[in-house]
Amino acid sequence: MEIKFEKNNNPKEKITDLNKLGFGKYFTDHMFVMDYSEGKGWHDPRIVPYGNICLDPSAVTFHYGQTVFEGLKAYKNDGKVYLFRPDENFKRMNMSNDRLCIPLLDEEFVLEALIKLIDIERDWVPDIPGASLYIRPFIIATSAFLGVKPGTEYKFIIILSPSGPYYKNGLEPVKIYVEDKYVRAVRGGMGMAKTGGNYAVSLKSQVEAEKSQYSQVLWLDGIERKYVEEVGAMNIFFVVGNKIITPELNGSILPGITRKSIIELLKIKGMDVEEKRISIDELVEAYDQGQLTEVFGTGTAAVISPVGELKYEDKIMKINKGEIGEISQDLYNTLTDIQWGKAEGPQGWSVEV
Ligand code: PLP
Ligand code: COI
Repeated sequence: MEIKFEKNNNPKEKITDLNKLGFGKYFTDHMFVMDYSEGKGWHDPRIVPYGNICLDPSAVTFHYGQTVFEGLKAYKNDGKVYLFRPDENFKRMNMSNDRLCIPLLDEEFVLEALIKLIDIERDWVPDIPGASLYIRPFIIATSAFLGVKPGTEYKFIIILSPSGPYYKNGLEPVKIYVEDKYVRAVRGGMGMAKTGGNYAVSLKSQVEAEKSQYSQVLWLDGIERKYVEEVGAMNIFFVVGNKIITPELNGSILPGITRKSIIELLKIKGMDVEEKRISIDELVEAYDQGQLTEVFGTGTAAVISPVGELKYEDKIMKINKGEIGEISQDLYNTLTDIQWGKAEGPQGWSVEV
C-alpha cells in the first residue's frame, strides 16, 4: 500500500526547554492515519497534518471502550534518530487487538509507516538530554451503533509528542502505595492488553494515592489480593538478597517491553534474575530482614524508576534510604545508552531511522 503525504503548511514552534516539555503535552505537525472497514480491510494509509478527527457520537469506542494503544520512543544522538525494539510494540498491539476483537495489523507495514512518519518529523525528536519523542499508536472502533458487538470500522492513528521524563523529578526515587482496596485486573480479563479500560479502572486509586503524596499504586492480584502484579504505568522488580525478582506474566499483567529487555540485560550481565509469583508478605518479610535492598519500575515512559518508599497497610518500607540503588543506576545507564545509540545492544534492538 502506498502511503500518501499531505504536508502541514502551518508548522508549530518547537519547545526546546525541558522544564516546559513535561510528558505528552505537545504534538508534532503530522500524524499517520489508516482506516479499516469490513470487506476492504485496512486501507488508505496517509500522513496528514496533526488535527482533530470527526466521529459519530455513537462510535463504539466511546461507549464500550473498544480501543487499544501502544507507547514507544524515538531518541536522538549526534543527529541520528533511533527507535527501540519497535517490532515488539506492534507485536503486542496485535495481541491487544486479538483480545479486543479488533482486526489485526500487518506489523511490517505499520513499522514502515512509523519510520516514514518519524523521518518526516525528525526535527521534532528533542536534542535535549532526558527528552525524547514519545510515540503513541492507537486504534479506535468508529462504527456508529449502540449494540454491544465488535465494530466493523476502525481508525489506526500514530501521534507523536516530544516529551521529558514521565515523573517530573526524573531519576529521583518515587513513592508507591500498595493498593489493597481496588483491583486492576483478573486473569481471564484484559489486564495483559494495552487498552483504555485498564487505565480508566486505575484512576480512582491513583487519585487517592496522590492525595497521600504517593506517585502511583502497586497492584495486587485481583483474586487473593496477595500477589504483586505491576504499577500504574510500569512493571516492577525487587532486589532481594542476591536475586532480582519480578512478577511472572500471568495474563493480568502488561508484558512490558522494557521488562523483557531488562530481564535479557540482567542475564547478559550474569545476574540472577527470576520471574515468579511474589507475595506482598514475602516482600515485607524480606524488608524486615534487611534483604529488600532495591525496588525499581520499568517502562517506556518511566524508563527505570527507582522506588524509594513502599506503603502497605500501615507499614512504610524505606528502600535503600530513599536513594537510587547501584543495580537500578547501572541498568538505567545500560538501557539508556542502548536506546540513545551510544552503546551497542543485542541485535535488532536499535533501529536507526
Ligand atoms: N505496565 C503498564 C500498566 C504500562 O502502562 C506500561 C507502559 O507501557 C508498562 C507496564 C511498561 O511497558 P513497556 O515497558 O512496554 O513500556
Ligand atoms: C508507556 O510507558 O508507554 C505508557 O503507556 C505509560 C503511560 C503513559 C500510560
